[in-house]
Amino acid sequence: MPADQAHRDRWRRYWDRHSASYDKQMRFFDRVLFGDSRPWVCSQAIGDTLEVAVGTGLNLPLYPPGIRLTGIDLSPEMLAIAKQRAHELGRDVDLREADAHALPFPDASFDTVVCTFSLCAIPDEHRAIKEMNRLLRPGGLLLLADHIAAAVWPARAVQRLLEIVTVPLQGEHFLRRPLHQVQAQGLTVERRERFKLGLTERLAARKPARPQPDHEETSATGSRLQEPLPQRSPRQRRRPAPAHPPVRDQRPDRHPLLRRVRPAGIRRAAGAGGRRWVRGQDRVHLR
Ligand SMILES: C[S@@+](CC[C@H](N)C(=O)[O-])C[C@H]1O[C@@H](n2cnc3c(N)ncnc32)[C@H](O)[C@@H]1O
Repeated sequence: MPADQAHRDRWRRYWDRHSASYDKQMRFFDRVLFGDSRPWVCSQAIGDTLEVAVGTGLNLPLYPPGIRLTGIDLSPEMLAIAKQRAHELGRDVDLREADAHALPFPDASFDTVVCTFSLCAIPDEHRAIKEMNRLLRPGGLLLLADHIAAAVWPARAVQRLLEIVTVPLQGEHFLRRPLHQVQAQGLTVERRERFKLGLTERLAARKPARPQPDHEETSATGSRLQEPLPQRSPRQRRRPAPAHPPVRDQRPDRHPLLRRVRPAGIRRAAGAGGRRWVRGQDRVHLR
């Protein structure tokens, strides 16, 4: 059996085994760490929407009516719970087994791609984000929420220690930064919020309406792009797409170490004379 497949089978069995207890565990983390990240993400979905690693479908009740939803996951047992949930909600969702590293859809198939609390568990998050970008139509929106490397070093040190155990036993990563992969793919981060010592991050990033030649290759299969979403003027492009509901742009960090909140649109950068404030396109108060 090829190593890739053995690896995939191992994590499939892992998630199958944990499917029955997943919702209870996740509700706890939603309460203490992730806050309203699920509604924040789901409320921004429009049109043809793909949820990657949909799990037991905890997001299903939160999507607006009218979107056409597809969900994939590696684990048949997680999917079985998601199917039951969709049935109980009376929601028409196309739920299928698939690997986030090689998604079984043509290029530019979706207006929105969502992934919540799974990039920490998908073995190669770089490949997964590349796939998500490939599936987005020009002008489409990528919506992510996850726990990431903390903004303060003592917390990161604890995360590093935890990873010694969790990466080999559970496939769980604590020090990832999906933002960097998203930016490397040439997407424009329109909204981003980070809180709870910088442990939780959620973002909305838009694929350019026209291909960006200076960014990483987004399609391995050649271009089969469908009709782009309506073009917006440069002035409009500075604002979130009007089709998406307004969302709160910042959330003050409550921890004393994180009180220095920057004005919206200003980010910190290293300059010749040390650190300085610069105007940036995404609104962030922590690097
Ligand atoms: C922590 S759960 C998150 C589930 C769901 N997104 C949520 O927000 O509750 C991680 C999920 O990622 C799935 N997963 C892990 N590796 C995957 C892969 N390579 N392809 C697809 N799904 C994967 C697991 O089966 C599991 O359902």
